[in-house]
Amino acid sequence: MNILLHSPEYRPNLSSMIRSAEFFGLTKVYIYDANNLLLPPTHSKKARADMAHMARVWTAGAIEFVEIIKLNNLSNFLEQYEGRKIATMVDEKAQHLSDFQFERDDLLIFGSEKDGLPDSVLPLLDHSIYIPALGNTPCLNVAVTFGIVLQQALQNLKK
Ligand SMILES: C[S@@+](CC[C@H](N)C(=O)[O-])C[C@H]1O[C@@H](n2cnc3c(N)ncnc32)[C@H](O)[C@@H]1O
Repeated sequence: MNILLHSPEYRPNLSSMIRSAEFFGLTKVYIYDANNLLLPPTHSKKARADMAHMARVWTAGAIEFVEIIKLNNLSNFLEQYEGRKIATMVDEKAQHLSDFQFERDDLLIFGSEKDGLPDSVLPLLDHSIYIPALGNTPCLNVAVTFGIVLQQALQNLKK
């Protein structure tokens, strides 16, 4: 199982997803970092050290065990990825998470907090999955989605 975070906007969400990924045993995380959350501050050595320290604190140490792979050319990466590419989407017409059969080399893709996934990547993907809302709130926080989807995918693969 692989994961791709598309344009996360908030470091607390990014950190939480890295922490969950490592907790569930993943050793790498692909990130398309359109909002430059991974760029270290350039102004001082202390600022860079502070960022590295915060990354360890916010991920509860998980950052030490996960390889963060920054993608520069997203289309190339998606075109060449050998497994299926699965978008998580706020879309009632997408396949419901609980009905979806996962495969070991699936790439699970999570969109940005405000905009989700851009239309331009959709033609490059194979499937989309949705966690159905039972209440009135339109969607989940991306990091919450991440934990639910990963847990379900790993359970599904065990069967
Ligand atoms: C807050 S949502 C994006 C909201 C955006 N307005 C949209 O409609 O796509 C951010 C990301 O969380 C994930 N997400 C949130 N709720 C979800 C749900 N119910 N089912 C599947 N993915 C969800 C998706 O990865 C989504 O791109």
